[in-house]
This record gives sequence, C-alpha cells and structure tokens, in this order.
Amino acid sequence: MKNIKAIIFDAYGTLFDVNSAAEKCKDKIGSKWEDFANYWRTTQLEYTWLRSLMNKHKDFWQVTEDSLDKSMKAFNIDISMRNELLNLYKVLSTFKEVHKVLKILKEKNYKLGILSNGTPALLNELIESNNLKNIFDDVFSIEEVGIYKPSSKVYDLPIKKYNIQKDEVAFLSANTWDVSGGGNYGYNSIWVNRNKNIFDNLDYKPRNEINNLKQLLDLV
Ligand code: LAC
Repeated sequence: MKNIKAIIFDAYGTLFDVNSAAEKCKDKIGSKWEDFANYWRTTQLEYTWLRSLMNKHKDFWQVTEDSLDKSMKAFNIDISMRNELLNLYKVLSTFKEVHKVLKILKEKNYKLGILSNGTPALLNELIESNNLKNIFDDVFSIEEVGIYKPSSKVYDLPIKKYNIQKDEVAFLSANTWDVSGGGNYGYNSIWVNRNKNIFDNLDYKPRNEINNLKQLLDLV
C-alpha cells in the first residue's frame, strides 16, 4: 500500500466489540446470548439502512434502543435487562490488540481517524472509557451529514477534511458491507475478517484482508 496519508477506522465491530454488552450479561441471558447479540446488531444495521432509504433519520442511539426493544421481544428477555444492556453498550470493550496497534500507528506520520454511524457523544464516550484519548486526529460521525453508511456523503467526510485523494485513505472495517461501501467509493478498503466470514458480491473485493488489526502493521 503506497501513498497512504490517512488511516480511517470503522468503530462498531472493528475497534469496539459490539457483542461485549450482551456477553457481560451472559449469566442472566443464558446460552442464547450470542444469537441475541447478533440479532440485535443485524436489526440495528437494518434500521440504519431502512431509515436512510425512507429519509427518516434517527440518530444511532435511538436506532440502538429501537433495535434492542425488538430483539428483547424476539428472545423473550426480561425488560429489567434493558437499562443494563444499554449502559454496557455505551462502554463497549475494544478488541484486545487495538490499543497496542493504535499507539504504534500514532508514532508514524498518518492522520488517524474514526468514521462511524455513532453520534459524536457515543463515540467520545467509547474513546474515553477505553483510554484512547489523544490517539485520533478526528472522529467523523455520520450525524454531520444526517445519513448512514454506505452513503458516499459519509465517506466524503475525511476526504474533504484532509483534502486528499480517495485512494490515499486506508479504510478498515470488519463489516463486509462497509468495506464494500468504502471500496466502491474509492478508498483502499481493508477487510478485518476476525471470524473467517465470506465476503460480499457488491462490486468490490478488498486487495487486503487481515484477521486482526496487528496485521495492519505489515501493510502500512
Ligand atoms: C459504524 C458501524 C457500521 O461504526 O459499525 O459505523
């Protein structure tokens, strides 16, 4: 990868483990906790895409609550768990290699950013609760453009801020559709394939696939 000027990370699922909220309650939820977490995440994402298509924007926190309510009904989870799950979602854990990798990248000469569906308040809370302050040059939230990924308006944000070419961005996401979105837009998208998943058929195949963020250090 040559001429990379900015390294931009997706947040949920890429830096922060979206399943960690339900996992911390697995004793109360029981063995279905992982299916429940996946259902919640899938519903949350579907709501972002549907709201963008319907032109009915609600911010990511409201979408997270709405999708949780449906998921709790679907899995028969007691309503008393609602606040606990939501509070845990505000302080999701990072994947284990994240700190080390970001600190090494910070020493190099790249712009480091987050580009996420999350609201600025949610993203700042995740950064603070995980001791990642002073790492990122910018935290770009879709709230600036009022439409969710994979709208090109979202991927435009770092390009406009840094005044660089699309292919000068290394964009990392664990979400295949976000890799496709960023790649079709023109980024050098890198797929963080943590769970040996299968890639999409959406007109973009990433040139680089890594299993965790540590492997990014071999590419940039
Ligand atoms: C985000 C979602 C896509 O952080 O994970 O934008």
